Amino acid sequence: MRSMEFSRSHYFASLIFVISGLLFQVKIVTSIGINYGQIANNLPTPENVIPLVKSIGATKVKLYDADPRVLKAFANTGVEFIVGLGNEYLAKMKDPENAKAWVKSNVQAFLPATKITCITVGNEVLTFNDTSLSGCLLPAMQSVHTALVNLGLDKQVSVTTAHSLAVLAASYPPSAGAFRKDLVDCITPILDFHVKTGSPFLINAYPYFAYKGNPKQVPLDFVLFQPNQGIIDPSSNLHYDNMLFAQMDAVYAALAAVGYKKLMVHISETGWPSKGDADEAGATPDNAKKYNGNLIKLISSKKRTPMRPNCELNIYVFAMFNENMKPGPTSERNYGLFKPDGTPAYSLGISAATTTNTTVPPTITPPTAALPDNSSGPGSTGYLSISSATKGRCRVIGPVIFMLVCISLFL
Ligand SMILES: *[C@@H]1O[C@H](CO)[C@@H](O)[C@H](O)[C@H]1NC(C)=O
Ligand SMILES: *[C@@H]1O[C@H](CO)[C@@H](O)[C@H](O)[C@H]1NC(C)=O
Ligand SMILES: *[C@@H]1O[C@H](CO)[C@@H](O)[C@H](O)[C@H]1NC(C)=O
Repeated sequence: MRSMEFSRSHYFASLIFVISGLLFQVKIVTSIGINYGQIANNLPTPENVIPLVKSIGATKVKLYDADPRVLKAFANTGVEFIVGLGNEYLAKMKDPENAKAWVKSNVQAFLPATKITCITVGNEVLTFNDTSLSGCLLPAMQSVHTALVNLGLDKQVSVTTAHSLAVLAASYPPSAGAFRKDLVDCITPILDFHVKTGSPFLINAYPYFAYKGNPKQVPLDFVLFQPNQGIIDPSSNLHYDNMLFAQMDAVYAALAAVGYKKLMVHISETGWPSKGDADEAGATPDNAKKYNGNLIKLISSKKRTPMRPNCELNIYVFAMFNENMKPGPTSERNYGLFKPDGTPAYSLGISAATTTNTTVPPTITPPTAALPDNSSGPGSTGYLSISSATKGRCRVIGPVIFMLVCISLFL
């Protein structure tokens, strides 16, 4: 009797687990991405990171490498991956054979169980001002793409690179957005590559840097997505109430100015540090909570940039963890949503009242017994309620799951 009961409830637990898996699939609609940097010596194992990624409602993860431990751990989770090819490999990747070997062992080996959809070749290469490195960028992108074509993977995996916003010489007002003149000759062939292969243009954009550089003049509410009067772009007449959208539209304007009006722009990094040095204005837990909390709500809302109101918003928050071995000012080591022990660095601050009624009943969350002890820190549930609240689809699926739970009780 006991054992029958156990196996029956076990059966339904599995069924419900499968359905909540479906629920995570459905969430792809809203597309929250997260950067998973690992310049640290104290991070949880990749297995322990899976529930953390899910707790913030993220369906996409961006790596700076192709860490096989991570790619293996996330097999069959439905999470989409961008993997990275570091700047130190670019010169080598010009050789098609090297590119093919890299793609085989770092991408093909994990498909299709791990959903790798994109490769970033180099990070912020052009703003190092190292012409020999810059010269390797496009050839490396081409070799990697060719390798994908030869392996029959180019339809499912795209090739791009991530730029710093400093590739722009002007970003304000947004309509005046323009690339640095000295980079135009180097960038346009890369833009042709995007057009030809259908890959997106990636930009790392940090309103935080603008604020830190000029805290007296840049209104904090404008950079933190808080209510504010915003600005009007005098030449387009478009209204902006947050700096990230202004920066994105500056990129769209810069692309249009050199003849590329149809490229997709994705934000490959944006975030806010919760701690900084004495001279780093604004790096506090409260500001980080506002920036990242409001950003996640924004991504989940229907709001898009004024210049591209019909484009999908694709944004990767920086970052998963505070990374204790990053060089530079204190802020660099404090961008994480999570501390290395898996507890939230701060609450993302979505009020419980807005989430209670849409939150999936606790009985049907994935079986926590299967999860490592320290992955369900005190704040994890807070994050879970955000992800549920922000996903319209969950409201449809929630009742279905609830019905299944009821049925299982009657059987
Ligand atoms: C969390 O798990 C990791 C890896 O399993 C372990 O090394 C670490 O000590 C744990 N942390 C806590 C606070 O239990
Ligand atoms: C690269 O060059 C630009 C323009 O000449 C300059 O503004 C920028 O500070 C330089 N960046 C680095 C990292 O040297
Ligand atoms: C949840 O919804 C019910 C009715 O639909 C309402 O009475 C209740 O106040 C709501 N709870 C919260 C916390 O909003």
